Formats: sequence, C-alpha cells, structure tokens
Amino acid sequence: MAERKPVLITPEQLAQQRHFAALVSVMENRPRSYHVVTYGCQMNAHDSEKLSGMLADMGMDEAPTREDADFVIFNTCCVRDNAERRALGNVTWLKEVRKKNPNLIIAVCGCMIQQPGMAERILKQYKFIDLAFGTSNLWKLPELLHRTLNSDRAVVVVEDEDTIAEDLPLRRLRTDAAYITIMYGCDNFCSYCIVPYVRGRERSRDPEAILAEARALYESGVKEIMLLGQNVNSYGKGLENGMNFPELLRQLDAIGIPRIRFMTSHPKDLSDELIAVLGEAKHILPQFHLPVQHGNDEVLRRMNRRYTREQYLDKVRKLRAAVPGIGLTTDIIVGFPGETEEQFEETLSIVEEVGYDSAFTFIYSPRTGTVAAGMEDQIPEDVATDRIKRLIAVQEAGQRKAMARFLGTEEEVLVEGLSRRSDKAVSGHGRHGVSITFPGTEADIGQIVRVRVTEMKNNTLMAERI
Ligand code: 5AD
Ligand code: SF4
Repeated sequence: MAERKPVLITPEQLAQQRHFAALVSVMENRPRSYHVVTYGCQMNAHDSEKLSGMLADMGMDEAPTREDADFVIFNTCCVRDNAERRALGNVTWLKEVRKKNPNLIIAVCGCMIQQPGMAERILKQYKFIDLAFGTSNLWKLPELLHRTLNSDRAVVVVEDEDTIAEDLPLRRLRTDAAYITIMYGCDNFCSYCIVPYVRGRERSRDPEAILAEARALYESGVKEIMLLGQNVNSYGKGLENGMNFPELLRQLDAIGIPRIRFMTSHPKDLSDELIAVLGEAKHILPQFHLPVQHGNDEVLRRMNRRYTREQYLDKVRKLRAAVPGIGLTTDIIVGFPGETEEQFEETLSIVEEVGYDSAFTFIYSPRTGTVAAGMEDQIPEDVATDRIKRLIAVQEAGQRKAMARFLGTEEEVLVEGLSRRSDKAVSGHGRHGVSITFPGTEADIGQIVRVRVTEMKNNTLMAERI
C-alpha cells in the first residue's frame, strides 16, 4: 500500500468556497430549493447534513420532497449491490420529474461515485445527470454547483485524495442528538469490502476540533452524541499528540453530555484500555456495536478480519464483565465465497452463544476491485437466501431471550418521535440501545424520560412512565 498523507483543507480554501457560495446565491438560474436523498450508513447521513448546510448557505431552502425541489442530490452508497441499484433506480425516475421541471438539476455524489471509472460510466448511461462528485470532493460543492450552472455539459470531479475539511456549514437533522465524525476512511481491507477504496486511508480529526464541537453541542442542549468512524477504535493513529480512542472518550465524557455512543468498532482493535474506560465513564452508554461477520475461523481468515472466533468471544466476555447488561449488536455476512454448510453453522452457533440485542444480516455481495470478488466458489443465490433466513430465525430467537433481561427494569429513553402504531405513544432508545415504546405526546420528543419496562411485543419493549 502506497503511503498517503491526509490532505487538510485550509481555511483559505474554505473561504474560497464561501465566495463561490455567495456567487451562486445571486445567480439568475440558480436553484431555489434542494432535496438530499441519502443512502447507506450514518457516515453518509452526516455527510448529507454537510451538503444541506452548504446548500442552505447558497440561499436555498429545503424542499419537503424531491418532486418539489429544483436541485436533487443523491448521496450514494456502494457497500452492497442493492444499495447501488436503489440509487440508480431513483435517478432514472427523476428523469420523468425533469420533464415537468426543466430547470431541475440532478447531482450524484458519495461512495458509488468514488469507485474508479464509475462516474464516467454512470454519466454515459444516464445522460441527464448534471453533476457527479466523489466523497473526497464534498467540501467543494459551492464551486462545483457554480461550474454546473455555467456549463451545458455535465460536471464530474472525482479526486483520489484523503481530505479532512473542518468547519463546513452543517444543517443537523436533529437538535437533541448529533453526529460527530472522529475519523475518516479505513485501512483494514477486509477482503469483501469496498469501503477502503471509496473512503480512503484512515485519518483522524484533531482532538481539539472534536472536543470543541462536542462542547458547543453540549452548550446548545444536545442530549446525545454519536461518534462516527469506520474503525473508531484505531482513532489517533498517525496523530502527533499521542491521543487514542480511550483517552478521547475520557475527555468527551467529562464534558457532561448525558449520552455518548460510537460506531463502528473492529474487534481486533478493541483494547483492554477501552473496555476499562467503558466501565468507568459516566455518560458512555452501555451498548456496543461489534461486527463479528462470521463464526468460523477459516472464513474469518479469508475475510482478512484478523481475529478468531475465540478471540472475539473473549472480547465479548470482557465487555460483559466490565459493563454488566451491556447491549451488544453486530453485522454478519452469509454466503461468503467458499462458505460450507458446516462453516455457516458456526455463524449460527456464535449468534446463539453471544445473544445479540440486534444484528444486521447481509448476503455477501461481490464488489469489483476487492479480493473476495476474485475468489472461486461464489455461493449460489438460493443457498445464500436459505442461509440468511435461517440466520434471521436464530437471531430473532436469541434477541427475544436477550431482551427479556429488561422486563421489570427501569430505563431512560431519549424520545425520538411518536410511535408508528399509535399517536398516544412515543418511542426512542434506552441507554442499552434497544427501542422502547410508552405512553406520551409530541411534547416528549427530544426529552429523556424514565420508564419501567412492562412487556415485550414483537421484539419491541413496551414501558410505563415512572
Ligand atoms: N457484501 C455483503 N455485506 C457487506 N458488508 C460490507 N461489505 C459487504 C459485501 N461486499 C457489510 C459488513 C459491514 C456492513 C457495514 O456491511 O457486515 O460490517
Ligand atoms: Fe470495510 Fe472491514 Fe473497514 Fe469495516 S473494517 S469498513 S468491513 S474494510
């Protein structure tokens, strides 16, 4: 792997972008409203908050739906094939919308575009796209939109750089909870995964910038922060001040924000020091997302995960010893090339053994350019579909068992909204990360409410107020 240095976007470069934003905001043919469509992970959701912030800076209002907008931007994901297909399906549909609104501008950005050669391919096939840019160019949106408005041809910019841009305008989705990115990119190169190719090398934000952002959120009354990174446990690698993830957590914990969460953690980088911090901290929530991916050592080795089943289980034991009752969640892949029935059954057994509160389960999807895509013995679709069904059944049974530990206990819920089933009930997440529903009104949204869990209905916990 060639040595790549992070590219820090300078205050001068950002000032230049603000200048472009001002130019766009007075152009006659500028869009008046925007709509951002987001696919994929929290990282993308947070990138969309930055896109929205820049667009608002250019004097545009957010349109409630894409049909009402003059500028529609698709922030794409490419981690699995279906994410890609969904984004492109919607883009095609927008072509029809454009017939009604000839001024509509269509942009596509994010991970899908950052794949080598992809932007050119998409533009050839979808001639009505006006602008395409990759993950590393997000901060340049004002300049790119300015160019698009002054051009008859599509604008495409995909640079292969590992950028860090501080102080971008932000329009956060929620006022009670906020995302903070702490590191970008990934160096792990799990053999199935495209992320290292589209998000670049690992690079950590300056801790002072992170702490300042957290303090400002605390002052504004935010109740929960979610620290984001593809591999948060290796935060600090390459920084000169010796900062690491456990130390960053200690300093964030001291600020006083009631709830701190983070994702995603790689089991191989989950240190005893971090587990100790979880045990001592006041505000770090008792929940942990620890992707296992598979339960068989040989498959884990070919996935390039760099831990064994036993090492993973050992981390789980340590987490549970340090934080009794901790809520564990995971990601699992079935149908990895060459996966035998016996190997798959070890995934079933590790899921039973751990007892996760929830699991994201995926059928392996070959990604061009990754090592696994070139492996022999790709698993037929019907076999993979059968396996994922069996996995989901085992996980759901385990989940019911795991959730029973909450019956009769007290929890604190950060209320996210009205319940989908009833307008006399609200729901949100407890400190352990599980979803809880209880009687309430709109006035509860954004508040932390104490409840007692009374029953379990279809894997959701129901509670009463205390
Ligand atoms: N196929 C299926 N699932 C994948 N993931 C990542 N790459 C692939 C792929 N090619 C899953 C992993 C990861 C989650 C975000 O997506 O489980 O943890
Ligand atoms: Fe992908 Fe592995 Fe990096 Fe996660 S740790 S983003 S699965 S390469």
